[in-house]
Amino acid sequence: MNLDDFLNRLKYACDIEDVVSSYVTLKRAGRHKSGLCPFHLEKTPSFVVYPDTQSFFCFGCGVGGDVISFVMKHENLDYMEALRFLSARSGIPMPEDSRDSGMAEIKKRIYEANKKAARFFYKQLGEDCGRYARKYAAGRGLTPETVRKFGIGYAPDGWDGLKDHMLSEKFTLEELAAADLIVRGKNGGYYDRFRNRLIFPIIDLRGNVIAFSGRALDDKGAKYLNSSDTPVFKKSHNLFALNFAKSAGSRRLVLAEGNMDAVSMWQAGVTEAIAACGTAFTAEQAKLVSRYADSVVIAYDSDIAGQKATERATSLLSQAGVEASVLILNADDPDIKDPDDYIRKYGALRFRDCLEKSKPVQSYKFSTLKNKYDLSLPEEKIKYIHGCVEALAEIYDDIERDVYISNIAADTGISKEVLQNSTSDLIKKRAKGRKQKQWRDTLSGREIYGDRLNPSKADNLKASMSEEGIIWFILGNPDYREYILSKIKSEDFVSEWSKRVFFLIMDKLKDNRAIDFTAFSSELSPEEMSRLAGIMAKKTEFSNTKKQLDDYIDVLLSNKNKKGDTELEQMSPEDIKNYMINKRKKQGEQ
Ligand code: UTP
Ligand code: MN
Repeated sequence: MNLDDFLNRLKYACDIEDVVSSYVTLKRAGRHKSGLCPFHLEKTPSFVVYPDTQSFFCFGCGVGGDVISFVMKHENLDYMEALRFLSARSGIPMPEDSRDSGMAEIKKRIYEANKKAARFFYKQLGEDCGRYARKYAAGRGLTPETVRKFGIGYAPDGWDGLKDHMLSEKFTLEELAAADLIVRGKNGGYYDRFRNRLIFPIIDLRGNVIAFSGRALDDKGAKYLNSSDTPVFKKSHNLFALNFAKSAGSRRLVLAEGNMDAVSMWQAGVTEAIAACGTAFTAEQAKLVSRYADSVVIAYDSDIAGQKATERATSLLSQAGVEASVLILNADDPDIKDPDDYIRKYGALRFRDCLEKSKPVQSYKFSTLKNKYDLSLPEEKIKYIHGCVEALAEIYDDIERDVYISNIAADTGISKEVLQNSTSDLIKKRAKGRKQKQWRDTLSGREIYGDRLNPSKADNLKASMSEEGIIWFILGNPDYREYILSKIKSEDFVSEWSKRVFFLIMDKLKDNRAIDFTAFSSELSPEEMSRLAGIMAKKTEFSNTKKQLDDYIDVLLSNKNKKGDTELEQMSPEDIKNYMINKRKKQGEQ
């Protein structure tokens, strides 16, 4: 069985409606099904599944594709992994060659190498050479149970302890370097990346060891050393200890800055503790978190950097629809820097108590604002009030906002009316700004497609729309292949992306290969699949007549040597409106 046959069988076995339904509650909407988009936060459904084309598209965030892209996106998998996932789900076996080809094979070897390396490190901690590291771990209060649970290990103090071990396990230097377990020196030789460090394996949600973080045992060198990104590890997409925390049995997570904090919290009975893998918290991590938690307590360091990071994390989390609260560690002890310090000094019980008293993010914001300014000075007070209004404008709940307004009014002596008016003015101003931007983005195609994929679209709006019309038409009417090719070639396409897709479609039709959506999934990236799904979903914009097809072709041919439409970006909303009205008029006349 080759890949094409496999994809065909898979497609029939994995109906998109079926697969999506296991994640999203779908309701009938005409011939389609719709539901709340799992990829962005929304209250009214704009996520549509099209059983006839076996595709999905979200009109809110522009994500779309076929059943494979859906699984990739939802399960955070790459293409091959998604195929494997669906193959397991449907019972249709993967073809041999694709299972072991290229990237998938390298990844498999890296997973194996990491697992072996983790075992090696763990074993070293128990050996003679690990005596000092054992002492260090014990000195930091780690129990043997914790060490076992997290698979904490020790990287010995030589240049090739791990390397030699792994070579004897039949791994090649290339594989070990790809796993970032060894690095290449200036003289071309390889040596161990982690030396004389306490090692924390980073484990993904399926239990694979994907990377390591090493804590120095002395003050020399970087305190923590983390694996660089590898084919199986992306720092910004993973979270330390989420593999344990996800099954802690609560829909709450506690997010720390350091691995050591997460480990220490786990030992203190806070089993839902996680940490970012040595990076600033990212939108991807927020999304990942939102799959396992409705609320997150941010337990970052209490220094200035930690406060900044807290702000960033709260806003990313709320964008992902997760409620955030902030743990205040140093309320009565300025020496406390992080959760680990607190637990070591005051014990698990008191820490957990403190955790339950974490502040909702809004009230945290107001109290940090208040600490920032000296309210006895008029200028500082004004700044404080402006800051409050900014924060108030971010509260969506009317009652909640009003409560804070009352508090601030009482606190500052400013009337409630003034605060209310300033806040609603700011809310309106922001909403207007957002709408204008959205309007421009929609018209320039940016909202749905993103200019990265098709940078020339905004400059050639009319031509681009026609190109998409042609692509849409041919997908629904493959029998028009000869006709279209007699009039137009892929070279006549203005935007590179459409050109490629058009070529791909025509090429597939030539071999009489089935052109359904899944046929493209191996050749287009997830973003490109989204875009193609978008073109297919926006049927109403295109009409399905030969006349319309001819118009599209004419537009393209006449556009061929002309400069594009005016940069929409530089037009005022008024201009854009007129432009659209004229355009519709013209279309109506045709
Ligand atoms: P901190 O410097 O706050 O260390 O770094 P910590 O977590 O309190 O560590 P201990 O308690 O001294 O062992 C917080 C996090 O930032 C990353 C690590 O992920 C660390 O856990 N970091 C820090 C690095 O990646 N490299 C460094 O050199 C320092
Ligand atoms: Mn610490």
